[in-house]
Amino acid sequence: MKAIAYTQHGLPIQADDALVEITLAEPEPGPHDLQVEVRAVSVNPVDTKVRRNAPVNEPRVLGWDAAGVVRAVGSAVSRFRPGDEVFYAGDITRPGSNSELHLVDERIAGPKPATLDFAQAAALPLTSITAWELLFDRLGVAEGGGTNQSLLIVGAAGGVGSILTQLARRLTGLTVIGTASRPESQQWVTELGAHHVIDHRRPLTEELARVGIPEVDMVASLTHTESHFAQLVEALRPQGRLVLIDDPAEPLDVRTMKPKSLSLHWEMMFARSMFQTPDMVRQHELLTRVAELVDKGVIRTTLSERFGSLNVETLRRAHALVESGRTQGKIVLEGF
Ligand SMILES: NC(=O)c1ccc[n+]([C@@H]2O[C@H](COP(=O)([O-])OP(=O)(O)OC[C@H]3O[C@@H](n4cnc5c(N)ncnc54)[C@H](OP(=O)(O)O)[C@@H]3O)[C@@H](O)[C@H]2O)c1
Repeated sequence: MKAIAYTQHGLPIQADDALVEITLAEPEPGPHDLQVEVRAVSVNPVDTKVRRNAPVNEPRVLGWDAAGVVRAVGSAVSRFRPGDEVFYAGDITRPGSNSELHLVDERIAGPKPATLDFAQAAALPLTSITAWELLFDRLGVAEGGGTNQSLLIVGAAGGVGSILTQLARRLTGLTVIGTASRPESQQWVTELGAHHVIDHRRPLTEELARVGIPEVDMVASLTHTESHFAQLVEALRPQGRLVLIDDPAEPLDVRTMKPKSLSLHWEMMFARSMFQTPDMVRQHELLTRVAELVDKGVIRTTLSERFGSLNVETLRRAHALVESGRTQGKIVLEGF
């Protein structure tokens, strides 16, 4: 089968061999695995971070977001059958989904939303798992809860922000404030349901005062946490909660959080699969919920750009755009 891999870490995406096409043996499913014919994939910052930072001895296939059709199942699989359409992010400790066939544990895969095509579905899994766990598990908001409370989402137009904004607006009573810096990304965040949009290129506390919400109860810091951290601590109400998901470029001084008794939470969507936690099936359940919510029209796909079929050139273009930090929603590639 065909796959796209990197063979040397740290190469700039413009280098000829930053990504290469390779041929691999068809992977055999383990007991809990689905063998999936991949129809579409989306690109996340994790792809570019692994390509840049993780040394390899042999070609490593990237890609942790896919939609496809189950071709075969392992001996212990009970939730899916050959022919089923699925969407999933997968497991960072296993080969990625930029290949014609791919293995995924059924406990972290969901049924593809019936109303979406494969590309629209592939935009969703990794960021939906992240946003869902962040909002309901880490910040501890209850579905239908959060009335009279506010959530500031930093980086609301990005992949995670685009689905988090929708989940917070549609499934909770939270007042949602999203940050975006460009007219088109601001428009996008408004359309996704944010009550207010503020500009992260300006001081966030001033921007919050401008929209009449000088203090917030919760913050989801999705990107550039190191550059906003002091302002976020200032903006949080006493006993507020801050959750982050990115890789801050410098240490954060969490001592500044003590006077207000603020709490800090990490969300890492690969934790459940990486450590095979007893509750990893929660990701199957939440993806099933996300598919239902999409099919009922409560939330929508975050796909913003179709980059054509999956090959070295289109994937290179997608990595370059993600590395620019200016993507809106998700970039998707479909078919080999
Ligand atoms: N821990 C986890 O489980 C997990 C899961 C998913 C992602 N992540 C990480 O979370 C981060 C965000 O992921 P993503 O997919 O949402 O990223 P993304 O789609 O690449 O984010 C792009 C967005 O970032 C915004 N942005 C650019 N500069 C900013 C700044 N200085 N301050 C605030 N926002 C800024 C841009 O908005 P404008 O264009 O409007 O400026 C753009 O819409 C990445 O580091 C990723 O690796 C972690």
